[in-house]
Amino acid sequence: MKHNQLMHILDSLTLDQKIGQLVQLSGEFFKEGTQTTETGPSTKLGLENYNIYNTGSAINVTNAQDLRAIQNEYLEKTEHKIPLIFMADIIYGFETIFPIPLAQACTFDFELIQQGAKIVAEEAYYAGQHVTFSPMVDLVRDPRWGRVMESPGEDVYVGTNFARAMVNGFQGKDGKLGPKSLAACVKHFAAYGAPVAGREYGAVDMSEQQLREVYLPSYRAAVDANVKLVMTAFNTLNGIPATGNKWLNRTLLRNEFGFDGVFITDYAAIKELVQHGYAEDDCDAARIAMEAGVDIDMKTSVYSNHLKSLVEAGQLDITLIDEAVLRVLELKNDLGLFENPYRGLDDPNSQIDEGKKIEKGVEFGEKSAVLLKNDNQTLPLSAAAKIAVIGPFAENPAIVGMWAFSADYHRIVTLRKGMEDVFNPENLIFAEGSNIMMDYNRVGFSDNIGNLSALFQVKDQEQLLDDAEAKAKEADIIVLALGESMFESGEGGSKTNIHLASCQVELLKRMKSLGKPVIGVIYTGRPLCLDNIIDDFDALLYAWYPGTYGNSGIANMLAGKANPSGHLAMTFPKNEGQIPIYYNTYRSGRPIRSEDVAYRFTSRYIDQTNQPLFPFGFGLSYSEFRYDNIKTDHSEFKESELITVSIDVTNTGLMDGETVVQCYVHDHIAQISRPVIELKQTKRIFIKAGETKTVSCGLSIDDFKYHNDKGTKVYDKGQFTIYMAQHAEDRANHIEVRLV
Ligand code: BGC
Repeated sequence: MKHNQLMHILDSLTLDQKIGQLVQLSGEFFKEGTQTTETGPSTKLGLENYNIYNTGSAINVTNAQDLRAIQNEYLEKTEHKIPLIFMADIIYGFETIFPIPLAQACTFDFELIQQGAKIVAEEAYYAGQHVTFSPMVDLVRDPRWGRVMESPGEDVYVGTNFARAMVNGFQGKDGKLGPKSLAACVKHFAAYGAPVAGREYGAVDMSEQQLREVYLPSYRAAVDANVKLVMTAFNTLNGIPATGNKWLNRTLLRNEFGFDGVFITDYAAIKELVQHGYAEDDCDAARIAMEAGVDIDMKTSVYSNHLKSLVEAGQLDITLIDEAVLRVLELKNDLGLFENPYRGLDDPNSQIDEGKKIEKGVEFGEKSAVLLKNDNQTLPLSAAAKIAVIGPFAENPAIVGMWAFSADYHRIVTLRKGMEDVFNPENLIFAEGSNIMMDYNRVGFSDNIGNLSALFQVKDQEQLLDDAEAKAKEADIIVLALGESMFESGEGGSKTNIHLASCQVELLKRMKSLGKPVIGVIYTGRPLCLDNIIDDFDALLYAWYPGTYGNSGIANMLAGKANPSGHLAMTFPKNEGQIPIYYNTYRSGRPIRSEDVAYRFTSRYIDQTNQPLFPFGFGLSYSEFRYDNIKTDHSEFKESELITVSIDVTNTGLMDGETVVQCYVHDHIAQISRPVIELKQTKRIFIKAGETKTVSCGLSIDDFKYHNDKGTKVYDKGQFTIYMAQHAEDRANHIEVRLV
């Protein structure tokens, strides 16, 4: 449909019908008994004199039959015949689930991330979905915050590349909504990942310099990749709730970033303007949000009950409503809904090859899990060894993370299944060993657990321990599958104690006391503090939540059929007191020096080192990689020139493997004090055992620019140190360059 036809539709709508396009409701409003996922507090909406058949969009109707029935009935009963648009949280999988985003970021393989998103989009497309509320690209430096699992971690380079890859994967090339695509919705604008003290929905307070330099670039990257929608955030930013923040949403997002797609609230965030004390009542909230540029009101009655009276009273300019409705119509048009409201549902090529999903799922598992420790080459395991696979995650399918509500649990490969496929099953012994935690009550979310509830029942801990001990005694080696329950992270999953639950620590200590090698495999949605248990493991593989097929990749690594290559996208603190901890920390006038640890007046703690347990970028392999011979083609360069820095990387191990070469820059003197280092580029490379490859990173002037205290992007002439490193604390290989 052409633009003038859309304008014609817009002109033909009554004010009620226009407002309806800006309202989003869940499935049960249209059809009783619709399977739906509540991701927010369930309150009565209080719709007044509202015609359901004016509504523009529906949220989280994930069952294809329900979706078809709703669209059908809607189109029969609506006067204007504009199809509903269906939007859902299809965050990193629909029925097939890939690893959680934080794990995906640990692959540093943005091509793979894009391919994964493409598969997710195809699967959801065939189920009639139109829009996914993904990617979430909130940069995060605080693992207490439950939603770290959903984010790409702490780094700007990783966040921007992740954002681009996801949008391209969901929407197709150049964001053009190609065949079998979904429209993507980047969220949560802005800075939702920085709540004070890591507490969910908490306030965010930061300088414009920080905001522009660290937190905004990933959303911007999604907008530049032509993302179709943006979602507001629940938090306040410097006192003003994001959903009603005109500067953020109009000045920055619309005018500066040039975003011309649909801007939707987060779940009921518009009504929360009242709770924030920023709007007097719902009517005031409607006006504020509309003026701030919010097009769609997700799951409240604020727009439906109040926009009309605001316009009629002359308190709201009708052109704001017209502009918002036009954007919604444009999105429907871009998706082809006017031509086919059942987009995807009737596509005859209905199924994606399962083999393709398995292949990517296994590859993701192999590349996202991070080998944190491997003393005396405990891993890989010998094929002949008798292995006790113990722990609450040994046979547990609840390993997809909180944002996987439509997961097909029947296909999930448990660790047991994955290991039985690659080891001789006769050599494997299994035991649950421990509860995940001793009290699930505080975790909540029981409404959405459905038929998973059996997995969240507390069992007799002593009996579990005794049984595990008896089984482990028969084995040569113990693989301990530990972790957090899926609902300990995700939305509303903030914690002050991010150590492993004490019942599982008890299991670990019991297993350790048997004197056999203990290998940990940890399933979780956040970096845990491992300081109290790390020494008890001979080897430790951090699996995150690996999704439907990830455990096959994990089993391949345990068996030595694959070589670990994941690298941390987030720093691992030693204890909670170090949080927030991140690699690109700012400099201090009194930096700690290794030689003066006993000296009081430096920037440090008196009861703990400044160092994390594992730094950003860290990840072991069964091979070792030696870096030498760092070079540059320009030790002096001008603004217009590209410079190349290269290094020789040798695989000195016995196994072929991949690693992630990381290029960091240190800016010596600037208009503001700059971070100690910043990641500018990564290269994931495969190197055969014994082989050497030269790895190069090309840098342009953009890599040396930063936002100054006025929020302006600038660069300064002078000296920079460039590091080619294996992780953020590896400063062994560096070279000086000078911008002239
Ligand atoms: C979350 C969003 C999500 C929305 C819809 C909210 O609670 O913050 O990320 O997309 O619910 O389910």
